[in-house]
Amino acid sequence: MDKIIITGNGPLCGEVRVAGAKNAALPIIAATLLSAEPMHISNVPGVRDIATVLQLIELLGAKVEREDTDLSLDCSTVHSVHAPYEMVKTIRASILLLGPLLARFGEADVSLPGGCAIGTRPVNEHIMGLQALGADIRIEAGYIKARATRLKGAQYTFDAPSVTATENLLMAAALAEGVTTLDNCALEPEIPDLAQLLCAMGAKIEGAGTSTISIEGVSTLHGTSHRVPPDRIETGTFLTAAAATRGDITVLDTAPDFLHHVLGKLEQAGCKMELGKDWIRLRTDGKRCKATNITTAPYPAFPTDMQAQFMALNTLAEGSATVVENIFENRFMHVAELQRMGADIELQGHTAIVRGKERLQGAPVMATDLRASASLIIAGLAADGETTIDRVYHLDRGYANIDTKLQELGAHIRRV
Ligand code: EPU
Repeated sequence: MDKIIITGNGPLCGEVRVAGAKNAALPIIAATLLSAEPMHISNVPGVRDIATVLQLIELLGAKVEREDTDLSLDCSTVHSVHAPYEMVKTIRASILLLGPLLARFGEADVSLPGGCAIGTRPVNEHIMGLQALGADIRIEAGYIKARATRLKGAQYTFDAPSVTATENLLMAAALAEGVTTLDNCALEPEIPDLAQLLCAMGAKIEGAGTSTISIEGVSTLHGTSHRVPPDRIETGTFLTAAAATRGDITVLDTAPDFLHHVLGKLEQAGCKMELGKDWIRLRTDGKRCKATNITTAPYPAFPTDMQAQFMALNTLAEGSATVVENIFENRFMHVAELQRMGADIELQGHTAIVRGKERLQGAPVMATDLRASASLIIAGLAADGETTIDRVYHLDRGYANIDTKLQELGAHIRRV
């Protein structure tokens, strides 16, 4: 099993390009199941979660050709609607296949994903939303078994905004009979991006990116091509790493518009930011950051997917700050690992009180989930001495070549 070894305590400097967004690419790939015509997707990130979901749709019968970051998909050959537990348990986003399979084939058997390291992560909103569209859904032997001759447009209000549940319902309603209105939808930028793809396939959608989305169902969707937008969380991760190491980096091929809250917090921490249309430069002028309070909440507020990385930055900052996690009940697994590196963090329920220290010390640590791994990398890059990070397969789920990219920014990091 791979490990990452970092010899820390040097600034990150230079330019880095970010990949396409994993969390945008996953629903896009699921949406290709809605059409029997060929689809072309570009800027697809080379991360493990994408490889897994592609394996899964191949298992269902889709033909997948991949060349670097370009993907050609042909879902005319899909012959199965059964997404097995063995694959779904490794990638929760497999739940995104439920809506498209049911809408196009009238049936879907998708394993319940089960719990995960950051929380219980129920899928009740996906199920209740599809039931509102007329699906007959039973839970049998750990599987969601959904049936519908044709889904029917309806009104559905999400109890709380959910990113993938909004995406699932959007895809299902695109092929339903009549008009669907979804209220209290998630606002994350991956949703208007998915709607853009669906409209290019012939869907009729209005309001994606706002809390009310209206979808007029059509009977078939056709093939198209689509470019996956830049990864806002990878962008934020590199910027936070540069802030923690007192560096000066420019992130290229990105989209500053989707990161307002994170950029604001980095500025509040004392970093100097310059923005272009598709690039962001962060400078620290060699200075230590100031501790910054953060509270995670749905977009456009501070993203839970950047909480762990900001926690690492706060452990090294001047002063104390609180970090409040409001999205997932167990997303503090990195705290115990950061403490092993000397971080001063006190947990009180959903709040972490972080007292910044001038230095952390390298230590052997264990990655527990994707963003926790990124926070340990940031801490390791800024710490004195050597940090060995175990279980880096978590990191490979969502970051493409992060070790090589960090090497190019001057980090002493290697994979063994
Ligand atoms: N929730 C329910 N019932 C549901 C669905 C969600 O109670 O049926 C709750 C969740 O337990 C959570 C909240 O609603 O408390 C929000 O969860 P959401 O459904 O929005 O999360 P998700 O769609 O499962 C996506 C990203 C996550 C990201 C969250 C929040 C993808 C594939 N995943 O998950 O990304 O943390 O939105 O922004 O888009 C990551 O990339 O590291 C990652 C975990």
